Amino acid sequence: MEKMLRIVVLVSGSGSNLQNLLDGIAEKTLTGVRIVGVISNNAGAYALERARKADIPALAISPKDFPSREVFYQRLEATLEDFQPDLMVLAGFLVVLPENLVKKYENRILNIHPSLIPAFCGSGNYGRKVHENAIARGVKLSGATVHFVDAGTDTGPILLQKSVPVFPDDTPEILQKRIQQDAEAVLLPQAVQLIADGRVFFRDGNAYVREVPSRK
Ligand code: GAR
Repeated sequence: MEKMLRIVVLVSGSGSNLQNLLDGIAEKTLTGVRIVGVISNNAGAYALERARKADIPALAISPKDFPSREVFYQRLEATLEDFQPDLMVLAGFLVVLPENLVKKYENRILNIHPSLIPAFCGSGNYGRKVHENAIARGVKLSGATVHFVDAGTDTGPILLQKSVPVFPDDTPEILQKRIQQDAEAVLLPQAVQLIADGRVFFRDGNAYVREVPSRK
């Protein structure tokens, strides 16, 4: 039987990126992958409901339920280990992962960020803020980036990027929606498929996609 890539998705909010993966799997446009668990730091995240509707184990592990940040991280790590993931996907996950966890899963954690990194990323650039900053700067293009996670914030190897136009009358909400629909919806399933197909490689600290050998 074909080996399935085991994925755990970490979420904090609505879960539209999780839904894009679930839909891709259901529609068989995303193959060779299985979402084995969904974890949220926020028990009220709608993303958990999306997971449960798809019969995927969905857990809330919230820092406020633990006596310290360290104990929270220990539980997160132990839970992840139970799922034995080949890949972790941060799909709108707003908790910074501790360095030991990032090291342990080196080149096996993907993040999606709603701008063209290195623009509008790093601390202070999350959610709506990213789009407010892009509009305030007057950029004519924004978009989304899928990258591997390293010890910094939004600094790891870039795997894929997709741009969308920014129009003069855009509000942060309009731009956010365009990025989610026209960039993120395409990009995250595509990135996961490339990993499942074994087409991603690393060189000099960057990530690249191997071309599929052409058949003669
Ligand atoms: C997405 O737009 C994602 O790119 C962004 O949060 C949103 C989550 O939406 N991530 C970040 O800002 C990370 N720095 P979703 O819960 O509907 O997938």
